[in-house]
Amino acid sequence: MNMMAPTPAWGDMILPDRVRGALYRDPAIFELELEKIWYRTWVYVGHESEIANPHDYVLKSIGLQPIIMSRGGDGQVHLLLNRCTHRGNQVCPKEKGNSPMHTCPFHAWNFGSDGKLLGYAFPEGYEGLDKSKHGLGRVPRVASYRGFVFGSFASEGPSLEEHLGGAAETIDRLCDNAPEGEIEITAGFLKHRVKANWKFILENETDGYHPAFVHSSIFSVADSAIGGLYGAKSTALTRDYGNGHTELDLRPEFRKRDALLSWFGTTPDKLPDYVARMNAAYGEKKAREIMIDGTPHVMIFPNLFIAEIQMFVIQPLGVNDSVQHVTALQFKGAPDLNRRMRQQTMGSVGPAGFLLADDSEMYERTQRGMEAHDTDWVFLGRGEHRERRDEDGFLVAHATDEVPSRGIWKHYRSLMEQP
Ligand SMILES: [Fe+2]
Repeated sequence: MNMMAPTPAWGDMILPDRVRGALYRDPAIFELELEKIWYRTWVYVGHESEIANPHDYVLKSIGLQPIIMSRGGDGQVHLLLNRCTHRGNQVCPKEKGNSPMHTCPFHAWNFGSDGKLLGYAFPEGYEGLDKSKHGLGRVPRVASYRGFVFGSFASEGPSLEEHLGGAAETIDRLCDNAPEGEIEITAGFLKHRVKANWKFILENETDGYHPAFVHSSIFSVADSAIGGLYGAKSTALTRDYGNGHTELDLRPEFRKRDALLSWFGTTPDKLPDYVARMNAAYGEKKAREIMIDGTPHVMIFPNLFIAEIQMFVIQPLGVNDSVQHVTALQFKGAPDLNRRMRQQTMGSVGPAGFLLADDSEMYERTQRGMEAHDTDWVFLGRGEHRERRDEDGFLVAHATDEVPSRGIWKHYRSLMEQP
C-alpha cells in the first residue's frame, strides 16, 4: 500500500442505499481491506474435522497469507504461518497430510506440528541460537464454534462469539440436522476462480433477487420447487444479523409446505435411515421440526457461506481475482443423506454444474460493468420501504429485497473507518 495515499472518505462512497463502483475496482481499496478486514476481523479458516487426528494438517489462507491449519500431538488446533523463520520459504508444500514435523525444503529447518522449531541442518553453525524465538509465526487468536475454526490477526478485539452474534444460531441450526449434532468436511473441495472482486460473491450469496433470472435454467430442467422460493410471492425473508452476517431465511416457505425433507427436494421414504436416526437422536417432535426447517442459507462475514447442502469459502487474491472453495456438507451419522449431498453438490456446483457457473458469469460481467464509471453508484435500495424488525430485533424484508447487501456495507464501512 502507498502510505502517502489519502484515506478515502468512506461516508462519500458508502450510503445506506448505494455504494461507489470504485469499491470493487480500486487496488488501493483492496490493500486497505486486507489491513482493516482480512487481517483484523475473525475470518473462517477451516473445520476441525479436516484435521481430525493428532499431527493432521491442511493448507488454508487468511487474506493473502498462507496458513497451515495443524493439530498438535496434544490435539490442540494451531493456525501457523506457512513461512520458514529462516529465509521465508514455504515450509509446507503439500495441501494436506499427517506429520509430526514439517521440514523446510530450502535448508531443512524442522518445525513441530505445533509450530515450534525443533532443529536445523548442520547445527554447529548456530552456536547459542535460542530455538524458542524461531518457531513458525502464528495467527494470534484462534477460536472454534461447533467445529468451525476462525482466526484473527488482531491480538485483541471482540471474541468470536461476539463477532458471530445472532448468526451463531444458524450454525447451531445447521449442526442440528446431523443425527450426531456435528458437521464433517470430508468430501474434498472444488475451486472456482473468477476474475471478480470478492464482495460481489459475498453479496450475491444471500441475494434473493437474482435466482429467478440467473438460475432459471436449473429451475426449469431440475423440475424443482426451488424457483418459488425466490419469486415475488415468496414468504421467505432476507435478514441482517449485524456484523456483516446475512441470511436468506427459507423456513417460512418450508413451514408452509409442512413436509419432511422438502427443503432437500425429497421425501422420507428416500432416506429412511436418516429419518430413523434423527427421530432416535432428537425425539419425533423435535426431529420433525428440524426436518421441515432444513439447513440455513447464511453468509458469515467475510468469507464463510453455508448454502443448505454446501459450504463455500471465499478467498480474495486481488481486487478483481477471487477463488470460491466449495464442498458438500456432510452430517455425522447420516450416510444416506451424505451420499445425496455429494451428488447434488456435483450437479449444482461441480465443473459441469448448473448453479455456480451462472453466478460466476454474472460476477465477471459485473466486474467488467464497473469499468464504466457513469455516476459510479451501485443502487441497493430494493425493499427499504418494507423493512421491519423480527422478534429477535434483526432487520428482515422480502426474499428479493436488498437487506443483506445494505447490512454488509454498513458493517464494511464501520470496519474501514476504524483507524
Ligand atoms: Fe446465484
